[in-house]
Amino acid sequence: MANFFALKNFTALSDLHPNMANLKIIGIVIGKTDVKGFPDRKNIGSERYTFSFTIRDSPSYFINVSSWGSEDYIRSLSENFKVGECVIIENPLIQRKETEREEKFSPATPGSYKLLLSENHSVVKVCSPYEVDAKLLSLIHLPVKESQDYYSLADIVANGHSLDGRIINVLAAVRSVGETKYFTTSDRRKGQRCEVKLFDETEPSFTMTCWDNESILLAQSWMPQETVIFASDVRINFNKFQNCMAATVISKTIITTNPDIPEANILLNYIRENKDTNMADEIDSYLKESINLNTIVDVYTVEQLKVKAMKNEGKSDPFYGILYAYISTLNIDDDTTKVVRNRCSSCGYIVNEASNTCTICNKDSSRFKSFFLSFDVLVDLTDHTGTLHSCSLTGSVAEETLGCTTNEFLVMTSEQKTKLKWQFLLERSKIYLKLILSHRARGGLKVSILSCKLADPTEASRKLAGQGHT
Ligand SMILES: *[C@@H]1O[C@H](CO)[C@@H](O)[C@H](O)[C@H]1NC(C)=O
Ligand SMILES: *[C@@H]1O[C@H](CO)[C@@H](O)[C@H](O)[C@H]1NC(C)=O
Ligand SMILES: *[C@@H]1O[C@H](CO)[C@@H](O)[C@H](O)[C@H]1NC(C)=O
Repeated sequence: MANFFALKNFTALSDLHPNMANLKIIGIVIGKTDVKGFPDRKNIGSERYTFSFTIRDSPSYFINVSSWGSEDYIRSLSENFKVGECVIIENPLIQRKETEREEKFSPATPGSYKLLLSENHSVVKVCSPYEVDAKLLSLIHLPVKESQDYYSLADIVANGHSLDGRIINVLAAVRSVGETKYFTTSDRRKGQRCEVKLFDETEPSFTMTCWDNESILLAQSWMPQETVIFASDVRINFNKFQNCMAATVISKTIITTNPDIPEANILLNYIRENKDTNMADEIDSYLKESINLNTIVDVYTVEQLKVKAMKNEGKSDPFYGILYAYISTLNIDDDTTKVVRNRCSSCGYIVNEASNTCTICNKDSSRFKSFFLSFDVLVDLTDHTGTLHSCSLTGSVAEETLGCTTNEFLVMTSEQKTKLKWQFLLERSKIYLKLILSHRARGGLKVSILSCKLADPTEASRKLAGQGHT
């Protein structure tokens, strides 16, 4: 095979030393950053662009490569390849790395060098996977850390605040990959954000947030309930708003998709044995929404939501919207309907009333924890175009909406409950909704209320007059 790139035709990353001439190396791209622009200090008013990536040519060697230059050069270079592809680099500059300062922002690499690409001298070629050694391709499934060097999700949760701000490794399965949200910051920079929900044997849902296009692109290749990832060097933070621990992908992070290590195979077997999507849905809808309401801006009528749902058929991503509507059914004063239920404090699933056990956690008695009371109400929402039936109003959103806790509610007389109900019925409210298509839900649409407050009448009529969503 004339065009076959065997590793032996290139200088190994482990053999690099400064001043090597006519250098040619090959590697698989295991990490990559977004292109960023910085003001050019030498050329006031103009910007210099940069991006970097990490390549690997053996289980123990990988190196950070960065490039600076004009916007055109950097963008076209960066657009050429993505994580998982192999590249040949000719004539890079070899530089000694300034370990401490550098590794704060970039993946910790084993050697003492880094590579710099220069627009005038270096060449980067992308190889087709058919041209390269299978050994090289298989490196993409090898984590860059020891395979046992990771935290389970329950460890992270249990350690709580003591891990706040720490950078650690995580091995977990992907439960879901959220929709990418685009926004503009106050200093007019464009940004994007994608939330990935992870799980493992120890924890039903854990959020990892990606803020850059490259990691979002990678996340979008993951299959919910099938992909396992080894994320090295993610930052752990305590999220004050959601009162929970969460992970963030940072520029140091390298994520290995479907890692080829025994620990990942054990997790993979666990996922396959526990593939109960009904349950997963239920947990996801219960677990506190991490949605920032400010990011939801689209106003709909009931009819428009139903049309949008029909158009989205087949998609499993949730969508969000604002509805100005009345609560037309709110059965909180009717003794035959259960308004408050027990949920499992470990996973959030509704506890089986008859057996008084959590059907999820009792599979493993070591995880058995206590229950807590939670509102669990289905309401109908009506506007001038129609009615959305059986929208769920649960947990803290219900407490905020109704203005009382479950315990306060449980000691109310039915007269007081009726009075409470009439505070809402037929009052126009501004309601933030999350909608998921589900063939098991009434009307094919599962609707959860994220916030419900009495609407400001002028705002409501202005929005209703000005909306144009279809
Ligand atoms: C590589 O190193 C540069 C600094 O030299 C850093 O800015 C960049 O984030 C690093 N990135 C990767 C993916 O290695
Ligand atoms: C690249 O080459 C051009 C023209 O030969 C020159 O003007 C420019 O300064 C060089 N750039 C660098 C970074 O050396
Ligand atoms: C990320 O992707 C969005 C949408 O494609 C784009 O507008 C934005 O410029 C990208 N950001 C970077 C840093 O490449």
